[in-house]
Order: sequence, then C-alpha cells, then structure tokens
Amino acid sequence: MDRIALTGGTPLNGSIRVSGAKNSALKLQAASLLTAEPLVLTNMPELADTRFMVELLAQLGVEIFWPKGSGRLSMHGETLSSSIAPYDLVRKMRATFNVLGPLLAREGHATVSLPGGCAIGARPVDLHLKAFEAMGADIVIEAGYVKAAALRGLKGARVMFPFASVGATEHAMLAATLARGETVLENAAREPEIVDLADCLKAMGAQIEGAGSSTIHIQGVEKLGGATWNVMPDRIEAGTYACCAAAAGGEVLLTSVVPETLSALLDVLTRAGVRVETGPDWVRIARDPATRLKAVDIDTQPYPGFPTDLQAQVMGLVTLASGASIFKENIFENRFMHAPELRRLGADITVRGSEAVVRGVEHLRGAPVMATDLRASVSLVIAGLMAEGETVISRVYHLDRGFERLEDKLSACGAQIRRIKSGEEG
Ligand code: UD1
Repeated sequence: MDRIALTGGTPLNGSIRVSGAKNSALKLQAASLLTAEPLVLTNMPELADTRFMVELLAQLGVEIFWPKGSGRLSMHGETLSSSIAPYDLVRKMRATFNVLGPLLAREGHATVSLPGGCAIGARPVDLHLKAFEAMGADIVIEAGYVKAAALRGLKGARVMFPFASVGATEHAMLAATLARGETVLENAAREPEIVDLADCLKAMGAQIEGAGSSTIHIQGVEKLGGATWNVMPDRIEAGTYACCAAAAGGEVLLTSVVPETLSALLDVLTRAGVRVETGPDWVRIARDPATRLKAVDIDTQPYPGFPTDLQAQVMGLVTLASGASIFKENIFENRFMHAPELRRLGADITVRGSEAVVRGVEHLRGAPVMATDLRASVSLVIAGLMAEGETVISRVYHLDRGFERLEDKLSACGAQIRRIKSGEEG
C-alpha cells in the first residue's frame, strides 16, 4: 500500500488548478443510465471513486471511452445488459448505490447491493428507498440487496424529506426525470452538486425547476437524450488546498473554482487571520508564515453552512492556532477519527460525542500516522505541512478516492511531499 511522506516548514507559493468535483461526477455518471444516447463528461476527475463507478456502469452494459489524462469520459448505454449492481462493486463506495433509481426508472426493476463507503457513521439509505416507494416502487431488502420493481414505470409523487440528504435528493431527482407526471421534492438538499446534476439532466431533456432551493419540481418526460457536460469544480478539493496554503503560509492561487461555493470556508479562514481574495473563477490564499493563526469555531451544516467534508481539514489547520477552537459535527456521527492521529503529531484535541475542542499548541512534530477516511487523510497532510520533521501517512488509498495527484499539485507549490509506492523503502 502506498504512503505519503512530507516534511513541514516550507511555505507554499504558486498556483493549483482545481479538478472536477468528485461528488458531482459520480451522480452525473449515474445519469448515463437514463438515456440510450451518449453522455459525455468533461473536466472529469480521474479518481479511485470515479473509476469504481465506471467499472459498475460497464458491468451494467454502458460502453465507456475514457482515455487516460483526457479528462473526458464518454458513456453510452444504448441498451443495458443487466440491472444488478453486485456487492463487490457497491461495497467499495456509497455513491454507486445511485444506480438504483436510474435503473428502476429506465428498466422498471433493479437489484442493488446495500452500499459501503467511508466509515463515518451509519449512513443508511432509508430516505432513498422511501422516495422510490412514494413513486410507486415495490422494495424488498433481501440478503444485503435492495430489490426494487416498478413494472409499469415510476409515477410522480410528493416526497418530503425529514432532513436534507444530499444523496437522497439527487437519487430521487435522477429517477423522477423519467417518472409519469410531476414529482415534488420538499426539504431537498441545496448543495451546488445538486444544481450541477439538475443542469446536466436539463441538457439531456429533463424538466426540473428549483434545484438549489429546498423545493424541487420535476416533470417526468418520455425519454432523455445525450449531452456533453462540464463537471463543476470541486469545492472540497479547493477548500482543502486553501487550508494547505493557510497552514504552510505563502501565497497560493487556486484556479478553476466557483468562489461562492466556498463562502463558508473562506469566512472561517478570514476569521483565522488568513488573507483571502476572490475573482470570478479564482481564489488567492495568503499568509505570512511568521504570524500565528487564530482559533475558530466550526459548526457543520448542510449547504450553504460549513461543509462536513472540510471539518477535518480545518481541525488540522487550527492545531497550532492561538486559543481554543470548538468543532460541532452535525451531519455524521463518528467523524472525528482524525483526532487521535492529529494527536500523534502533538495536537491537543479532546472529543466528546459530536463535539471536539482543539487547544492550539506551539509545535507539531512529524510522526507516522494513518489515514482513516477520505477527508481525515488530508487533515494529516495539512498538519504535516506545519510539523517539524517528517510525517508519513499510511493507508493513502483513502486519499486517492477523492484527490487527483495531490502530491504533484502540492509539490509544484514547493511542498516537500512525495509518494512512497507500495514495496519501496521510505
Ligand atoms: C454526500 C457526499 C459526502 C458529504 C455528504 C454531506 C457524495 C458522494 N457524498 O454524502 O461527501 O459528506 O453528502 O454533505 O456526494 N441519511 C439517512 N438516511 C438516508 C440518507 C442519509 O439517515 O437515506 C443520513 C446520513 O447517515 C447522514 C446524513 O443523513 O447522517 C447526511 O447524509 P447525506 O446528505 O445523504 O450524505 P451523502 O449523500 O451520503
């Protein structure tokens, strides 16, 4: 298994081009199942997760053309050969579960394994299934599989989510595009990736209004066509590099970003004493490495609140801040697994249930640490950039699920970071 070794203490200077959003790409990939025509995604991130999804789509009969390094993925599901998504593929990553709705809408039936993914809490799929039941599907759970059928097609329905789930909103929206009549999703999630998905579906011929607000109206259509769609920039990747620059000090220009989607983080960074400047599609992050960051409090919330996917990164960042920072995690239980690893570097963190208190210390010292989930892994990179000496992060396959060439992007800005390939000596 690969590891990442980094030595802290060098400021970052340069620019980083942010990749296409993983969390958007995965749902856009699932949309290819809704049409017999080609769906082409550009600005496509090449990640372990997007490759898992391609593997699953291929297994379902979608023809894939994805030249390495092209950033252009073409998916053509002219006819589907299967509507079964097996455990082996779905267990690796939760978003593969999103093929259920499109298969059900197009084929009238689907059998999909219950999902896996990051170990950040229970993460059930009950809201997804309730939405499909409201749309007339019969659902049975048997031997770890969800078997869904709507042999006469799905019908439009009013679906009220008890809380705003990103995955359930996207999944219901995908399926509703081909349902008979109107579907109304209430208390829908408002994340920018939902807007990206809705806009792509509209380019394919879907009728959707209100994506990005809490009520989404979808008027089902007979069929969808193909489209070429540019995946939106990854706000979590952008936010992560913003934290890296804030941690190491120096000046980094992030390009190919949508600054509005980063507002909650940029406010926090400003409060912490980081200089933030934004333009139409860029963000500049600057900090004098001689100055000390200030403590900040974080309360994770659905969009436009502070994203849970950036909580670990900011925790890594404030380990050296002056004062105490309080973190409240409201979206997932068990999402402080990075805290014990950060403590190995010398951080002072106390976790009590869904709250963590980080008391800023004077120094961090490099140590061997372990990545525990996708976002936790980059909090160790951020802390490692500030630590004295070398930090070696193992289990970086977590990081590879969501970050494209992280070590290349950071070393181009002067970071002392390298990948130690499995079998190589550190
Ligand atoms: C998506 C993102 C993930 C992000 C999360 C919250 C992708 C691939 N992943 O995950 O990176 O951290 O949004 O912004 O886009 N829940 C239920 N029942 C359900 C569905 C969800 O109880 O049927 C719970 C979950 O356990 C969790 C909360 O709802 O506690 C939020 O989950 P949700 O918004 O659905 O997140 P995901 O779509 O899984």
